[in-house]
Amino acid sequence: MTTETMVRLPFEPKPLSQALGAEVTDFDVKSIRPDEAKAIVDYLRECQVLVFRDQQLDQPQMVEFLKLFGDPLYHVLKQFLIPQHPELHVLSNLKTEDQEPVGNAYEGLTWHTDLNGQNRPVTFTVLYGLEVPSEGGDTAFASMYKAFEALPAERRAHLEGLKFIYSYEKQHRVRLQVLAEKGITDHVYDKPMSDEQLAYARRRHVLPIVTPNPYSQRLWINLASTGCVGIEGMDEEEGLALVDNLVSHCIQPAFRYDHKWKPRDLVMWDNRGLFHRAGEYDRKKERRLMWRGSIAGD
Ligand SMILES: [Fe+2]
Repeated sequence: MTTETMVRLPFEPKPLSQALGAEVTDFDVKSIRPDEAKAIVDYLRECQVLVFRDQQLDQPQMVEFLKLFGDPLYHVLKQFLIPQHPELHVLSNLKTEDQEPVGNAYEGLTWHTDLNGQNRPVTFTVLYGLEVPSEGGDTAFASMYKAFEALPAERRAHLEGLKFIYSYEKQHRVRLQVLAEKGITDHVYDKPMSDEQLAYARRRHVLPIVTPNPYSQRLWINLASTGCVGIEGMDEEEGLALVDNLVSHCIQPAFRYDHKWKPRDLVMWDNRGLFHRAGEYDRKKERRLMWRGSIAGD
């Protein structure tokens, strides 16, 4: 981190774990100026996850916040976009008076990097917790930089020569399986896909496992744990065993920060270099209402 970056940050962050994450208190994100946003991005690329506590944002203000950092992406599940502000996607277990879901209740239950099947993953993702469970529902993060750097040199060199094959179709299938195993039926994922969604789902992407961050050149492990159908040039079983083994390595506590939500937390992460997963909570007892936004890959 440069001294210049330190000076220009408009707040004093505190580390959240040994591996990653920083917390910001007594600061209103509505006060961020465009030049400060640049300093925040520089800092976020190092700490990976920033937690702004106790924010008071309405929908237009959250959209303004997103636009400080690039072009907002519209989520592919269009039914949960806020009509007046389609940059925001609603995550919730709540229902309307007509028993219609207010938002997506089952997003991200397996380890993933947002849109990592694409050549340009999402740059930043932001979650704003308006109502959060009193227990459970933690969002877990794992630093794929730290996980890579902790491997022996020989294993790092081996991984640097490998490419994984990603299929959204498989990710979708595994997601349905996970939901079925939990006895969850009131989700949206078994609705027929649109032509646009189908075209995306059927594409196969071959991507290097070890990927440099384009800004820092720091290497990270890019994996699609549930969407991975194999390793290029490797027998399917052997490839998937390698992926499973690598995922277990990456999600160890030493590389983790698990965020316990407080109401009005605004959590922003640098999607590259990170694995994350939504945590379970008692959906019958607890209430969760979040807005999610993300910034298109650059
Ligand atoms: Fe995600």
